[in-house]
Amino acid sequence: MQLADLYTAQAREALPPLWGPSLETDGEPPLSLAYGLADPALFPQEELVDTTAKILASHLNDALNYAPVAPALTTLIAERLHHEGVQAHEDEILVAYGSSQILGLLPRVLIEPGDTVLVEAPTFMGAVRQFKRAGAQMIGLPVDAHGLDVEALATTLEALKRKNLRPKFLYTIPTFQNPAGVTLSLERRQRIVELAATYGVLVVEDDAYVDLRFRGEPLPPMASLDQEGWVLRVGTFSKILAPGLRVGWAHGPRELIARLQMFKLEGASSPFVTHLVAGFSANGRLEQHIADLCAHYAIKCATMSQALRHQLPEAPFIEPDGGFFIWLQLPQGVQASQLAPVAIEHGVEILPGTRCYTDGSGEAYIRLAFSELPDNQIETAIRRLSTAIKVVQRPTEGG
Ligand SMILES: Cc1ncc(COP(=O)(O)O)c(C=O)c1O
Repeated sequence: MQLADLYTAQAREALPPLWGPSLETDGEPPLSLAYGLADPALFPQEELVDTTAKILASHLNDALNYAPVAPALTTLIAERLHHEGVQAHEDEILVAYGSSQILGLLPRVLIEPGDTVLVEAPTFMGAVRQFKRAGAQMIGLPVDAHGLDVEALATTLEALKRKNLRPKFLYTIPTFQNPAGVTLSLERRQRIVELAATYGVLVVEDDAYVDLRFRGEPLPPMASLDQEGWVLRVGTFSKILAPGLRVGWAHGPRELIARLQMFKLEGASSPFVTHLVAGFSANGRLEQHIADLCAHYAIKCATMSQALRHQLPEAPFIEPDGGFFIWLQLPQGVQASQLAPVAIEHGVEILPGTRCYTDGSGEAYIRLAFSELPDNQIETAIRRLSTAIKVVQRPTEGG
């Protein structure tokens, strides 16, 4: 008798998390550009310690007992939404253990095995895996320099309608997309909102990176353009404060929020941490912190962009206006899955583009996160990457 005999069919088929530590190496660990981690030097450590002491002094019971989410946090989220042109009532907001939890609750409410879900190609596989696990059939829609290709979306919706298929939702990352770094134009945002209303499709607008803008003017979220209640906006404090706090949220139609809440059976997400986030953020402190983060991440992005242009002129990319990632097109003939282990041998870890598509494509791309490494290591990492690419190219040279 084996323990594994007790597993559900789903558990037997489950794969380990995509996220994981760098491959073991004998010597120094590689410099990692693979994951969207925050730069630990940018955590407001002392202020979080001070705020913790204040919370324990002033909100001991609310923070440490079984209790609801700190009301000040829901108010903060509503105020920030209001600032973006979204009128949010507090019962239309659900706070969760990271936006990942929201993305995991969504299929519980919306997906039956075989249902269709539309996603960008490439996209954030952390979300897609949650949809797939629920049995969703994915349709990947192309992304270009201006974000999701809305004509492809329109054509797909029409083709599905002809087959009597109504997709459950479109999952999109409109701003500083993960992994492509591009931002959906205003015209396309408007068109998506129109299409959602026409075809009765929910838009899941995952704006994890929206606040990390280095250049240009913010664009209105689709949630602010939607008059008919077809947009669920998903956000997180991971990128603007600290991922380890695990605080994310969703705002959307009241009935959908209530339905998502019904599956959040463990109760309110960490009351203590929600007090901590609200306490830190009070009096404009969060906005000031975000401005500091943007200044730092802008330098990292510029450093990586410059190093890439210098070291790898034959590998094109679109320099993003914000976020954490550069999506690099590899020189002709270099395959991402072949490059990744060679890069590790040369002391740098990258994410192969294949990890960002639902159908195994993406061999021509890699995702490089400039967020985590200190500025002075970014150039070294790119130099190592350039060497690894040359090593992969070598056997094909001259024949
Ligand atoms: C687009 C996108 N959505 C959601 C998440 C998950 O964030 P959280 O830490 O809030 O679970 C990430 C994390 O990398 C992300 O890139």
